[in-house]
Amino acid sequence: MLNIVIFGAPGSGKGTQSERIVAKYGINHISTGDVLRAEIKNNTELGKIAKGYIDQGQLIPDELIIDILAKTLDSFEDSKGVIFDGFPRTIPQAEALKKVLAERGQSVSIMLDLDVPEDELMTRLIKRGQESGRADDNEETIKKRLVVYHSQTAPLIDWYKAEGQYCHINGLGTMEGIFEEICKAIG
Ligand code: AP5
Ligand code: MG
Repeated sequence: MLNIVIFGAPGSGKGTQSERIVAKYGINHISTGDVLRAEIKNNTELGKIAKGYIDQGQLIPDELIIDILAKTLDSFEDSKGVIFDGFPRTIPQAEALKKVLAERGQSVSIMLDLDVPEDELMTRLIKRGQESGRADDNEETIKKRLVVYHSQTAPLIDWYKAEGQYCHINGLGTMEGIFEEICKAIG
């Protein structure tokens, strides 16, 4: 089983690199952000709750997101592993992931930390906002997402170092070059 946590600030390239990893290694992909945006699009109860948080650049409460994760995991059959994109984002989420995997006799194989300078993150997300219009890709909300990243999510770097699963990836450069570095790390 290859269970990868792909980690990084908003705009660091988690979704972009996940696509490549899925194509090469044939594992399943869970993007909690994509799941929530689909719920919003379908106007479900969960979507209505999620929208309030996403539009403010805040995190959805841990209990809700952990429930989504467990359900999505159980929907995969004959899986070779999973790439977790945008999850975990808090220490309680990381602890929950460890537990959910352990209950299935599994663990995280590697945590890839896509490290990108803040001005580049801003440039990428503003550009995407202009081109494809994700509701949270505007300057004000991006700034809030970055604050939330630093206060609630970045502490996971030390958490995964302590687990011995941490791997730093330089997330600045071409998408192909970064993917090569990731493949070496997965090795
Ligand atoms: P989520 O959807 O996870 O968004 P995010 O973390 O803010 O990150 P993005 O998806 O914006 O960026 P990315 O790292 O995937 O980069 P991408 O590849 O797209 O979460 C959204 C919201 O949902 C959260 O704010 C929260 O409210 C909620 N949520 C989600 N998960 C949650 C959880 N676990 N707990 C609680 N709440 C949760 O790339 C970005 C752009 O840059 C693209 O346009 C891309 O083409 C471009 N790009 C990529 N790589 C490069 C490169 N090397 N060079 C130049 N451009 C590049
Ligand atoms: Mg993404």
